[in-house]
Amino acid sequence: MDGENRLLAKAYGHTSVDREWPADETRIPDWIYTDQDVYEREIEKIFLGRHWNYVGLECEVPEPGNYMRSYVGPYPVVVTRDMDGGLHVFENRCAHRGVEFCREYRGSADSFICPYHNWTYDLKGDLTAIPFRRGIKGKGGAPKDFDMAEFGLRRFHVATRGGVIFATACNDMESIEDYLGPEICAEFDATFDGTEFRLLGVHRNILPSNWKLYQENLKDPYHATLLHTYLTTFGLFVSSNESNIPTDKFGRHGGLLSRRSDGRPDVSEEDQASMQAFKKTMELNDPRVLAFFPEADSKWSGSVLTIFPTLTALRQTNILNTRLLVPRGPNKFMMLWTVFGRADDDEEMTRHRLRQNNIFGPAGFLGIEDNEALKFLQDGVRKAMPREGLAVLGEDNEPTETIITERAIRGMYRYYRDVMEF
Ligand code: FES
Ligand SMILES: [Fe+2]
Repeated sequence: MDGENRLLAKAYGHTSVDREWPADETRIPDWIYTDQDVYEREIEKIFLGRHWNYVGLECEVPEPGNYMRSYVGPYPVVVTRDMDGGLHVFENRCAHRGVEFCREYRGSADSFICPYHNWTYDLKGDLTAIPFRRGIKGKGGAPKDFDMAEFGLRRFHVATRGGVIFATACNDMESIEDYLGPEICAEFDATFDGTEFRLLGVHRNILPSNWKLYQENLKDPYHATLLHTYLTTFGLFVSSNESNIPTDKFGRHGGLLSRRSDGRPDVSEEDQASMQAFKKTMELNDPRVLAFFPEADSKWSGSVLTIFPTLTALRQTNILNTRLLVPRGPNKFMMLWTVFGRADDDEEMTRHRLRQNNIFGPAGFLGIEDNEALKFLQDGVRKAMPREGLAVLGEDNEPTETIITERAIRGMYRYYRDVMEF
């Protein structure tokens, strides 16, 4: 915050400039979205802390020797499958002078050779060769006692569940199952059900907003019923649907689960009056985007899971995708989308999934609205006099089918405050 804003804020009595989290849990201070030192604390306490970070899908590295680039929090990593089929996650930073050595997004290799001075690492991240290690004609080279075993790439612990790969820097992490908790694990398993998946594509976009706002967005059923013409008009997520908003016991993970209606949704005149986005007469030129071939062992046709800190996993009709949030400072993050199908999908099903995925991306039927809303939100908290945002809707002990609520957002920040020691 610059000096002028700070003075103004003090004049208006906003205590947030002193970084005191308000006692009232329905108040969320602006500075958690904008401050560099909060962001740096998140790296320590969250991304390198006691959490499982999603890094990719096993179907992205199906064969021995396959690798892909990914991220743990903001840090670039490489995910590999070694020749025995084991998975490894290590930093994409050469131990020598620091080059981000892996340049291809994905590929196949039996070793990584840093382009600068050709130090070489195997698929487990061990340093295996240094050119001119003994110098030339006895002159120069690495110190005699240089131990290559000490200079491998820094590794993360790895775990998988249902074909999803997670990494952590924590040495005594609980299992993924315990980390997810029973409520979320059940829905996670309904999507990642043990069948073999096939990668259909990846896309990336950068959003000018804080990474937490995206997790909030997908814990926010209130906005889904109001902002999105596509979801409401065609009944994918609308107030009249049967829905459920589970969270884990800590509040860090959550789900937006919904069962769509058959045909157009039955929205009362009264509800329609509150929903600007609902367009009763709108039609789709290509109704195939709405076709649904049930495939999961779940009553929900739409399931969005937010797995703290940076995974969202979506099963929406026949869309299967994950989003990895890659923080880039407090005011920006990259979204890495991975779209997948089942290994035994026929050509028609693959095309159907890809067609349905048009709801996302910079011009997606849904993405266009969320992307813009989050930019505007960041503009507000970054530029305006600091204040506390409100998350007052609903109640913490309400039935989980309540959808006009901000219970899951409050839950996430209760956990966040605890971990961040605010
Ligand atoms: S920086 Fe990688 S080998 Fe020198
Ligand atoms: Fe949305």
